Amino acid sequence: MHSFKELVTDFGEKFSARHFPLSPSSLYEPAEYFLSWGGKRIRPVMCLMGNELFGDIQEDTYQIATAIELFHNFTLIHDDIMDQAPLRRGMETVHMKYGANTAILSGDVMMIRAYEYLNRIQPACLQRILTLFSRTATEVCEGQQMDMDFETMQQVSMEEYLRMISLKTSVLLAASLEMGAIIGGASEGNCRHMYEFGRNLGIAFQVQDDYLDAFGDPEKFGKETGGDIRQNKKTFLLLHALESADDTQKARLGQLMKSDAPDKVQEVLSVFKACNVDDWAIRLKEKYLQTSLQHLDSIAVVSARKKPLKELAEFLIQREY
Ligand code: IPE
Ligand code: IPE
Ligand code: MG
Ligand code: MG
Ligand code: MG
Repeated sequence: MHSFKELVTDFGEKFSARHFPLSPSSLYEPAEYFLSWGGKRIRPVMCLMGNELFGDIQEDTYQIATAIELFHNFTLIHDDIMDQAPLRRGMETVHMKYGANTAILSGDVMMIRAYEYLNRIQPACLQRILTLFSRTATEVCEGQQMDMDFETMQQVSMEEYLRMISLKTSVLLAASLEMGAIIGGASEGNCRHMYEFGRNLGIAFQVQDDYLDAFGDPEKFGKETGGDIRQNKKTFLLLHALESADDTQKARLGQLMKSDAPDKVQEVLSVFKACNVDDWAIRLKEKYLQTSLQHLDSIAVVSARKKPLKELAEFLIQREY
């Protein structure tokens, strides 16, 4: 058994080799530039952990983990175009550095490379893995489109928000665990609990991401804070504030959402604080963490083997970056 830290190091070393040819460098250099910044590597590590819960880590699991990390990086490059984000992992985003057209193509080629890695696994599991991977990738697109659609909607319910973050973020964490479990030879029932563990944890993870986008320390977070506010993203912070604010605060938020004044972010943050979004964030994360841990408990494996996954869960919802 390996700890979360050991797996991050192990995967990081393997993943750091080049994934693309040298030429044309105008396509591949931006792709390699983006990959070289690192990232937390949580999804590939979840895939490795999903396998290791049931047995020794197989070579196939490394191929899938690599595919997952490439797919994730592809979504980030395109997400930064969509969100007009200037910074990621403390560095200039691909579209800012190389232009949107190059960012679109280097993202595309990264997704194609992801499928090439998947195609290397043993035929016995290939179809099942490909089906899950493709379903998940489609759901991420659905969630990302909902996220964009919500920007221009006045009213979004908490239920719609949870559905959107489940699609854009959680299903990939869930599928990463399940794909590892499949290669590890887990039963159908254990695979289902593994998926639901990841899906609920992923919701808590995105709640923390939305919280950090408003209140994080930009130095640690590596992304521009206040971006979600600027873009009128319908995060739980805004939904909760709109629900719990008094009439004056509601009117103020309504005005601010139409504005692009330089003090917009500061002003919205002060309404958020007045509405106690902090407490709400903690409650929301705790609720989904508990549900996720119930699924982890239901997996029919001795509990000592679940320790790395429990550590991962704690880290994901307390993280500052
Ligand atoms: C960022 O994911 C996108 C979200 C779903 C919030 P991560 O926070 O895992 O990004 P990296 O890979 O560690 O940079
Ligand atoms: C993005 O959510 C989820 C995906 C990339 C699919 P965010 O837009 O909140 O992610 P960050 O904050 O830019 O990393
Ligand atoms: Mg974004
Ligand atoms: Mg986004
Ligand atoms: Mg975010």
